[in-house]
Amino acid sequence: MKNRAKRALKSSKKDTLPRFPKNALSKDMRQYNNLILQCIPSGVMVINMEGLVTFCNASADSILGIDYLKEKDKNYASVLKGNSHVVQLIKNGINGETFFRKQLQLKMDGNSKWIGMTTSILYDKLATPMGVIAVFSDITDVKELESEVKLKERLAAVGELSAGVAHEIRNPLSAIGGYAELLKRGLSEDESASAVEGIIKETKNLNSIVTNFLSFVRKSQPVFNETDVNALIKEVISMVSFDKNAEGINFDIKTLKTLPAIEADPFELKMAFLNIIQNAVQAMPNGGRLTVKSDVQYGKIFIEVTDTGPGISKEIGDRIFNPFFTTKEQGTGLGLAIAHKIVESHDGKIEFKSKKGKGTTFIIRLPIRR
Ligand SMILES: Nc1ncnc2c1ncn2[C@@H]1O[C@H](COP(=O)(O)OP(=O)(O)OP(=O)(O)O)[C@@H](O)[C@H]1O
Ligand SMILES: [Mg+2]
Repeated sequence: MKNRAKRALKSSKKDTLPRFPKNALSKDMRQYNNLILQCIPSGVMVINMEGLVTFCNASADSILGIDYLKEKDKNYASVLKGNSHVVQLIKNGINGETFFRKQLQLKMDGNSKWIGMTTSILYDKLATPMGVIAVFSDITDVKELESEVKLKERLAAVGELSAGVAHEIRNPLSAIGGYAELLKRGLSEDESASAVEGIIKETKNLNSIVTNFLSFVRKSQPVFNETDVNALIKEVISMVSFDKNAEGINFDIKTLKTLPAIEADPFELKMAFLNIIQNAVQAMPNGGRLTVKSDVQYGKIFIEVTDTGPGISKEIGDRIFNPFFTTKEQGTGLGLAIAHKIVESHDGKIEFKSKKGKGTTFIIRLPIRR
């Protein structure tokens, strides 16, 4: 009984399979595969090891603007009509190097478009390379959208910056106007002297806003030299420790003695450290501990600046690197924006960790070699 059931099951399974002779089935599968290749929206091009184009699907024809039947068995470089980047990618493929979603600009018959191309090696049953398969799609729309978004972002950033500059400049300007009004009214000698002092102070303030702003917006051109980061940290600490704000702060310098010299612009790095260390000092008006550490790991150096100030709340954490973002009465809000720009121009990273009421640590990572 058991055997009969098995036999019945076997024969019912057989009945569900299409009844094709062996060759006809493989021919059918070939047609089926070909249909799939012809219907997918991605272009597929196959090039053999001699560099001849042996297959293109319909999408490849339409993306490249070619007619495969006329190009069959021609050299890929002539089919791609001097699109040197694409040609190079396929050449690399023939030499065994493949790429994933490489974005390339393609110029065919006066038309320009962007394609995203992935290449893979075509192997035979014995794993011998037979050629290269290039799969690509037209990403012109995506690229256009990307550049539109970038332009909008840039315009928004310019707007934000201009608003920031206007806001920053307006305060000292109106103070200067106020002092001038007082002078016009005729004051005692002492009062006049103090109004003039006020004008001088506000002018200095304006000057520092403009200088900071320019150092932020100017395209920086760092001059890279062998730089001793520990020495820079020491210089900055000795600069800020004389500051009135630094009273009651204990400085703890834990720099690594064997820290390697790095390729950097010492002038710019010093400015970045100064801004971060100054912030730490300003975060502790009633005193505290400021720790600066340096270390090295995996070809990068780390500098950590830790304070025991109030910390940075989540609400403002996303904005502290934005130009002109400040919570200080006298701040321009450019310190961290400048530090961020400098670290980025050194291929480094800057981030912070903070606990409310406990303090903040800024971490700067910089590559030893560029
Ligand atoms: N160590 C810190 N502890 C707490 N808050 C900080 C710290 N560092 C930065 N911040 C916050 O980030 C804001 C932006 O800092 P940034 O250095 O860019 O500008 P600023 O210090 O306000 O002004 P400026 O640097 O131009 O004098 C500060 O106003 C402050 O709110
Ligand atoms: Mg600052």
